[in-house]
Amino acid sequence: MNNSGYRIAPSILSADFSCLGQEVKDVVAAGADWIHFDVMDNHYVPNLTIGPMVCKAIRPCVDVPIDVHLMVEPVDSLIPMFAKAGANYISFHPEASRHVDRTLSLIEERGCKAGLVFNPSTSLEYLHYELDRLSFVLLMSVNPGFGGQSFIPNTLEKLKECRSILDSYESATGRKVLLEVDGGVKVDNIAQIAKAGADTFVAGSAVFGVSDYKVVISQMRSELSKVSKQ
Ligand code: DX5
Ligand code: ZN
Repeated sequence: MNNSGYRIAPSILSADFSCLGQEVKDVVAAGADWIHFDVMDNHYVPNLTIGPMVCKAIRPCVDVPIDVHLMVEPVDSLIPMFAKAGANYISFHPEASRHVDRTLSLIEERGCKAGLVFNPSTSLEYLHYELDRLSFVLLMSVNPGFGGQSFIPNTLEKLKECRSILDSYESATGRKVLLEVDGGVKVDNIAQIAKAGADTFVAGSAVFGVSDYKVVISQMRSELSKVSKQ
């Protein structure tokens, strides 16, 4: 684990699925802090990926947290299955749950850390009612559904807004809520994204798109170290 206060969470959406166990081992050996696990149902988003069986299969391969990002609708029935499959962090999109507070409780009850995911145009309003239940907030910097898209620049302003909400909350309660960003994160923009307030970075194509994962993760850390020193 690094001690910079920043986490890098490679998204296995861009990994080689023919050897996924080896891919997650390699990316953790290269310095990944979390494994980001994208679940798509061809209903909430127009793509279809992986479910709890795959989570269970990779769980013994790594000892870092598995960060399950649910892009599914409805949400609730999958939560116990992912908790049982070894997920540590579980997030979902509030639009995809009829009862957001109940879904958050379900994640906590199953022993996982709960997060809410905000699409580029989803308001942060939910935060005002649910911060006590959240371990992390995930801001989408692309529209969900596919890897390899470009970072939407407006996300920087939203990150700042969210950072300020989370900082005020931490001052008032002493509780830290992580701020994760997902989509289009690269070596050349990670510092700017960190400056806007993110502390946890999902990166799919940027990491799995190169042959040496250690090189790109080290470059990201080097960019981040410039920010933390400021
Ligand atoms: C998109 C997914 C992302 C995706 C990121 O819906 O939630 O996690 O894998 O991929 P990149 O880093 O390639 O934008
Ligand atoms: Zn994701």
